[in-house]
Amino acid sequence: MTKIISFANQKGGVGKSTICLQTVFHLTESGYRVLVIDLDPQGNTSSRLSKSDGEFTGTSSAELFQENFTDIKVMPCPRGMDLIWSTKNDPELSEIEGLPLSCVLNPADNLEKSGILEHYDYVAVDCPPSLGRKLVAALTLSTHVICPVQVSGFALDGVEGLLNTIISVQDELNPELENTGMVINNLNRNFPSHLQACKQLREAVPDLVYTAEIGLRGKLDEANNLGVPVWSIKATSAREAAKDMRAVINELMEKVG
Ligand SMILES: Nc1ncnc2c1ncn2[C@@H]1O[C@H](COP(=O)(O)OP(=O)(O)O)[C@@H](O)[C@H]1O
Ligand SMILES: [Mg+2]
Repeated sequence: MTKIISFANQKGGVGKSTICLQTVFHLTESGYRVLVIDLDPQGNTSSRLSKSDGEFTGTSSAELFQENFTDIKVMPCPRGMDLIWSTKNDPELSEIEGLPLSCVLNPADNLEKSGILEHYDYVAVDCPPSLGRKLVAALTLSTHVICPVQVSGFALDGVEGLLNTIISVQDELNPELENTGMVINNLNRNFPSHLQACKQLREAVPDLVYTAEIGLRGKLDEANNLGVPVWSIKATSAREAAKDMRAVINELMEKVG
């Protein structure tokens, strides 16, 4: 059965796309057949994977929201994964938030009816930074969700809303959805406030926090911007970043199976 993993948090800049991208690199390098669906109207993941500079072929992620759109065509990417894309500042994908609520069911329905999922071992869904229709649609079509979080400033404030959204999708739309939990990203172990926030989060929801944590790693940012696996960068500091990233990916894979 195809495992479909959403990378979700309504906050921007917490590491959804970074962790999604690196997980996808790991899975394709391991020989799995992988499809990426970019539901973020910023389109960062699409441009990094396709290396196409705005030239996309096949189905866009906005088209998945149409009723009975089952002629889905994916775009093959240089590193072996396939893509259902969004462009930079994708207006059509942004406008989904104005459609009737029932549109959230269409992507799951279209993917199912198209038969396309049978071609993949894993589907990774990069979610937008909002709690709107696109996030609900992503959670409705997924088997699993992982929530990158940051412990700095007010970044944890929205976590309750995110967990409640996941629970309501599980209750009303997709009882199969498994929440693999929150992964702490951008952690600075020299900041007592970070360590305190981690401790509080682990105490509050012990079953919902990954054991592995990702530190503030410049090389992860560099790999992300270059659109390459962090483990392909030759530097001591990249090894540390790759170690953090791999620990999270391994934990995710243990949970997803
Ligand atoms: N652990 C990290 N260390 C350093 N930079 C990071 C880390 N995680 C993410 N970043 C950088 O932070 C920015 C936001 O991350 P991104 O994955 O795009 O967040 P989101 O998809 O949640 O909006 C990107 O420039 C990314 O390269
Ligand atoms: Mg993103």
